[in-house]
Amino acid sequence: MVEHGPEFADGILISEGEIKQRVKELGQEITRDYKNEDSLLMVCVLKGAIYFTADLSREVQHPNLEIETMVIKSYGSNTESSREPIIHLDILSPIKGKNVLIVEDIVDTGYSLKSLLDRINARNPKSLKICAFLAKDETREIDVPVAYRGFNTPNGWLFGYGLDNNELDRNKKDIWIRKKIS
Ligand code: IMP
Ligand code: MG
Repeated sequence: MVEHGPEFADGILISEGEIKQRVKELGQEITRDYKNEDSLLMVCVLKGAIYFTADLSREVQHPNLEIETMVIKSYGSNTESSREPIIHLDILSPIKGKNVLIVEDIVDTGYSLKSLLDRINARNPKSLKICAFLAKDETREIDVPVAYRGFNTPNGWLFGYGLDNNELDRNKKDIWIRKKIS
């Protein structure tokens, strides 16, 4: 469970202003990289990447930008990865021959992204890359190639800007961390 008690404290890790700035930079980078491509399909991994995808997609300039969604769940109400993510909603439109960019909130163990990569690759996209807003490298168990990342983060439970605290706090404008202080 998310840990509570006097030895834990919540604090802002990344401010709203820093988020906006970084999203803008990522949008410019993606715009440059896909400039000569005829397609760009951004896949929002729900629910965590909801705000990130909304903001990032508006910072990307591409004439054929499409947005799709997938729902994957790997945590339940726990802060320990199940390592067996379940896909609840798949991409509904054809992706064969398209440049697909998975937009994820955070990479932790890597199991969720690995299962998304396998699932999408089986449908023969022209290219497939990952954009993750946050990455906790200390806890990675499976190597997944993250082409675009917003911030590296320390270990600890993060919430806000789409990330949840037992389904709450997704709508906080900053990213918060719950840290052990003693
Ligand atoms: P992974 O499969 O272990 O890489 O877990 C990735 C998924 O777990 C992410 O898409 C998040 O939705 C969720 N997750 C991992 N760490 C956190 C966190 O610190 N706060 C909120 N959600 C998290
Ligand atoms: Mg997620």
